[in-house]
Amino acid sequence: MIFLVACQSDEAIPVSGESSNEVQELKIKFAHVVAENTPKHKGAVAMKEYIEKESGGKIEVEIYPNSSLFGDQDEYQNLVANNIQFIAPDLTKFVGNNPQFNVPALPFMFDNDEEAIAFWDGEKGKEVLSSLKNDGVLGLSMWPNGGKHLTNAKHAISSPEDLKGLKFRTQGGQVLESIYTALGAGSESIPFGELYTALDQGVVDGQENTFSNIESKKFDEVQKYMTIMNHTRVDYAVFTNTKFWDSMNAETKKIVEAGLAAGTEVARAEAKSLNEKALETIKERGNVEIVELTPEQIEEFRKVLEPIYEEYKDEIGADVIEAARQAAE
Ligand code: LMR
Repeated sequence: MIFLVACQSDEAIPVSGESSNEVQELKIKFAHVVAENTPKHKGAVAMKEYIEKESGGKIEVEIYPNSSLFGDQDEYQNLVANNIQFIAPDLTKFVGNNPQFNVPALPFMFDNDEEAIAFWDGEKGKEVLSSLKNDGVLGLSMWPNGGKHLTNAKHAISSPEDLKGLKFRTQGGQVLESIYTALGAGSESIPFGELYTALDQGVVDGQENTFSNIESKKFDEVQKYMTIMNHTRVDYAVFTNTKFWDSMNAETKKIVEAGLAAGTEVARAEAKSLNEKALETIKERGNVEIVELTPEQIEEFRKVLEPIYEEYKDEIGADVIEAARQAAE
């Protein structure tokens, strides 16, 4: 991944009023990479609506979806530079900063949103979300998307052997790479905003994603097969710039925090149903042949991927893996 150097902007830092009880005038930018009809965007809209209403319009929240302002390559640097105040990336995109963000990529760790939420809301999850403070970045609240499924353009996948020789795009990170290596496949990290074209041009044969992302970005137009796997997850957290966060006075922060809570509620409530609806739409479009694995077939994948836990025990931390296991019980 190429990281660009971002120039610092203090546009969102209030110039006055920190010590008063009045709500400060602010313009906040929230940038993300996915489409509008997704849990992340719906959460961001709920957050914007709450903050703008409760601040009587004093705080303006601009949302930039679809990598329209910044994408995977540069949103973090621009958060650090305070050019944007909120991002909500797939947590596996932060593994370069801290390998513990690999948790959503641990194979078959979580069966559903509730288990993933329980981990990130718990003590270890919060510790991981707070681990970017040296960069002036703070993880505030986890927003789920859902389980990932495999799509590809070559042939139907129903056993680990079927992946041999294929190349998959990943969101990034060591664990996802190891998953494909264990399955005899190649992998490459490609920014989300470039994925449709990469699939269309055959740069990679396939990718793994949630139904919501596959449907809303129309990846099924450029893929022929989809295997329902639920082997890894897309989970987000809302991250902010600590300088911006600490610059708000109590009244302002109260509104922004309550807005974040409103966004979290919507994102968490909508994720499952949006993914279910997206699967129905993918079925209706009929572009991909869908493979539903039997429990025995899932077990075959699980067995091949099990050694990954031992491989990453030290890097991710046995305590973090154990906390995830407990959340998944
Ligand atoms: C992807 O890059 O495939 C996803 O992580 C995008 C997202 O933010 O859901």
